[in-house]
Order: sequence, then structure tokens, then C-alpha cells
Amino acid sequence: MESIWNREEKLKKFDALKENIYADTIVVGGGMCGVLTAYLLGKSGREVILLEKDRIFSGQSGRTTAKITAQHGCVYYDFINDLGKEKAAQYAKANIDAVNKYSEIINELKIECDFRRCDSYIYSLHEKERMEKEAEACVSLGMDAEFTQQTELPFDVAGAVKLKNQACFDPIEFISGILENMPENVKIYEKSNAVTVEEGIIHVVSSESTEGGNENDKFTASADNIIFCTNFPFINSHGMYFARMHRERSYVLALKKAKKLDDMYLCISPKEKDNDIHDTLSFRSCELNGEDILLLGGGKHRTGYNKNGGVYDSLKSIASELYADSEVVGEWSAQDCITLDSIPYIGRYSQNAPEGWYCATGFMKWGMSSSMVAAEILNGLINDKKYVYPVFDTSRFSMQDIPTLLKEGKEAVKGIAKENFTVPQETVEKIPVGQGMTVTLNGESIGLYRESGDKYYAVDTKCPHLGCRLEWNPDDLSWDCPCHGSRFDYTGRLLDNPAQTDIGTKIRVEIKSKAEV
Ligand code: FES
Repeated sequence: MESIWNREEKLKKFDALKENIYADTIVVGGGMCGVLTAYLLGKSGREVILLEKDRIFSGQSGRTTAKITAQHGCVYYDFINDLGKEKAAQYAKANIDAVNKYSEIINELKIECDFRRCDSYIYSLHEKERMEKEAEACVSLGMDAEFTQQTELPFDVAGAVKLKNQACFDPIEFISGILENMPENVKIYEKSNAVTVEEGIIHVVSSESTEGGNENDKFTASADNIIFCTNFPFINSHGMYFARMHRERSYVLALKKAKKLDDMYLCISPKEKDNDIHDTLSFRSCELNGEDILLLGGGKHRTGYNKNGGVYDSLKSIASELYADSEVVGEWSAQDCITLDSIPYIGRYSQNAPEGWYCATGFMKWGMSSSMVAAEILNGLINDKKYVYPVFDTSRFSMQDIPTLLKEGKEAVKGIAKENFTVPQETVEKIPVGQGMTVTLNGESIGLYRESGDKYYAVDTKCPHLGCRLEWNPDDLSWDCPCHGSRFDYTGRLLDNPAQTDIGTKIRVEIKSKAEV
């Protein structure tokens, strides 16, 4: 089962790049952020190229719960204390403007995407006072918010903050509408992977064309401005984003025959408590093929920290407790970039990056509103040289503020030195069919996935990004990097950046009984 937004047939298809080209601005990444940025820049008259390595909307944007809200968890009380009221208000305004901008575009283009206004709630099962303080903080910033203990949820809450007049929608229908209305001066290329970038030139590998053509053709795309909307910026030499963010995964079930909710809900975990899945839940209803569907999310963890698995099973057991008649019709997981101060990085790629490089990343768990905020900021920076919301400035951290750098560097490991391994039968028999495990043999560590009784896939568990050791994720059947969240399927194929290549799979394993080894 996959994401209910995974309806590729809804979207126009675009050819891969087949020539060397030039434009005023190149946007790398065809998720919500890249598409909106290209759209706004195109509307302003810019010549834009949008490069997507796979298909438009095939990455993290398609794994959203599609809430469009300025309520990004329990953040405003902390923002006021940590950043001051002016910056906290700027953050709130940017996101409220983003919700309104979606409404404006949808009305203007008449996009039918199940867009509806609703209220957004955060709630706590334990901390009434914290919710009261958050509500006061929101009101002090001019937000239309209030404290309440009344919700539509099938259990009592200690307290909640209601933020009025937010929104939700069907993101695939929305993207489809934007692509249909994309200005002619925006050229989109799918299956066109930006592999290296130098100054204003991007080297692109095109893996496929809708009109045929050679696989893996290489071309260049040049521009004055290059915008990286790639979820995690993959150029390591500038910006040090690998030291300023980590990744988190979370999981979603789509349920039919569960009670329809008018509004959207997110539970806030207590700051001092270990993660209990009940403290991470998220709820919102949508419609799919005329049927009401409830999206039940939760189970967040840092990428690479899910050795025991079982998150989908826990969510399913909560679903059957809360909604006894419900049926699971979709399940998927998402991966988010978490910044040091919970605020996205949007603007210049970095102070020492080439002039004209920009990026948008670190959207926390709020990709829909943050994508629109980013599109507005990048449009303002490129067209007017003006920062619309400077609270998102990418240069707000110096190297001294980056506490994770050393810690993550320590986790780097050596890759394997040889390619042939003899694995004892009793070792592989510990791996359940359909699961993977890291196996250490004479000091060398390989990842083994057992497809069937006697068929295995072996991979090098050294991450090709910066060398951390990959960990097996039993829920998603993937090798995940705890440092910066690169992911690979069990055959070693790259699923998520910042790594740019697959992992080493030229490993031959021979399974032998103990007597033969
Ligand atoms: Fe950076 Fe693996 S070392 S993602």
C-alpha cells in the first residue's frame, strides 16, 4: 500500500533533458517547493528551467498529510523567548500569508483540489499549562488562536490550542492544476538528475525520455541563478547543511470507515518524556474517490533509529482501538529535515557559495506552508533583491553554533575492504525472510537482506555521503543513515539524498554450514 497522493496518472509528463540549455534561473527539484518557486518566478517573467531527477511530485512532497497551516507544533512560546517577538511574529505572518496565497492561487486558476478552510489544533494529553501558554503566545502575535479542551477526537485532552481558518487540500490535484497553468517561459525536464554543479553550470544525467533516446545521456544546464529545492541540499562544500540538520521519519495510515473530522489535529509530546507513540499522533480527514478517509499519523523517530520496527503495527492497533470498524487503505512514511532552531533555511545557499545560488530546506514537518513561504522569499530575492521574511535567512548560524558537527563526524565508518564473504548458515538464519540485518565477519560489516529462504542481497553499509554506518529500518525495508538521512532500498538503490549514488553492491556472499566455514 502506498500514499493516497501517489496518483502519477494525474500529472502531465515531461521529457528528459536532451540538449545543453541556458535560462535565467534553474530550479533543481520538482516537489511542491520547486514547482511553486518555478511557477511564481515564471509568472514574474523569468525564463526558468525546472529539473527533476525522477517524476514531478515523486519525492517527499507526495508523502505529506497535506495540512496547510501556520501552526507548526508548539513553537510560538519558544520562538518568542528564543528569538524575540519581532522574529516570532514574522514567522507567523509568513505562514499565514502562505495559507492565504494557496487560496488565492486556487481561486485564480480554478483548481479543483478539495481545498477547504478548517481549524488547526495542537493538543497535549498531559500539559494543560503548556497549551495555555502557547495559546497566549499565539494571541500576542496577532494569530486567531484560543485555548480549549473541546475537540472532535475520540479521547479527552489536557488542553489544546485552536488556530482558526487554516486549510487542507489534495496536493496531487493542486500540483496538476499548477502544471496545467505553468507559464510558457518555464521549461520542465523530468528524469534529469543534476549530479554536479559548478558556478552557474549544472551537469545533468538524463535517464529516460518519453520520446525514446539514449539512456544516461549527459548535458549541461546553465543559469545566472540556481535554486536547490531538493529537500536536503546535496552540495557539501558550501553551507554545511549536513551539520545543521538531521532527518526524522514518521508514518501515516489512511483509514476508511473512521469518523470524519472537520478539523486537523497534532499531539504535542511532553518535552521531558520518552517518545510514546500516543504523544505523536496526527489526525485529519480528506476525501478520496467520493469516500471519507482519515489520515492517522505518528511514530516519529530520528532516521536510522528504528532497529526494532513495528511502527505501522502500533498505528494499526491504535486505529482499531479508536475506530473499531476502520480499514487501512494506505500506509506510507515521510522523511523531514529538522533544523537546529526549528526554522527552515531559505535564501542564499551560503555566504561563501557562488553568487546566484539559493536553497530552501529544513521544512521540519510543514512542507506545504513552508514551500509557499520559500517560493515567495526566493521570488523576492531574485526579482527585487529583497528578503521578504529575514527570519529564515540561511546565514543565521556560525560554525560555533553547530553542536552536532563533531558528534556526527564520530559516527563515520570504514567501508568494506573486500568483496567476497563466506557467511555461516546459522548467521543468515537469524534474519527473518523479508528482513535485513548488519552482519560482521572478520571485522568487516555488510548488510544482508533475505528475500527468500536462500536468496540474499548484500550491501556495503558505509553511506556514500560522508561515511556513516547505515542502519536497517524494518518498517520501510531500507538501509537508513542516522547522520543526515540518506536512504537506500534493500538492493542498494538510492531512495533519499543527500547521498547522490547507490551503495556498494558488488559483494558476493557464499552461505556455508559451520563445518564448511
Ligand atoms: Fe550523510 Fe549518510 S553520511 S547521509
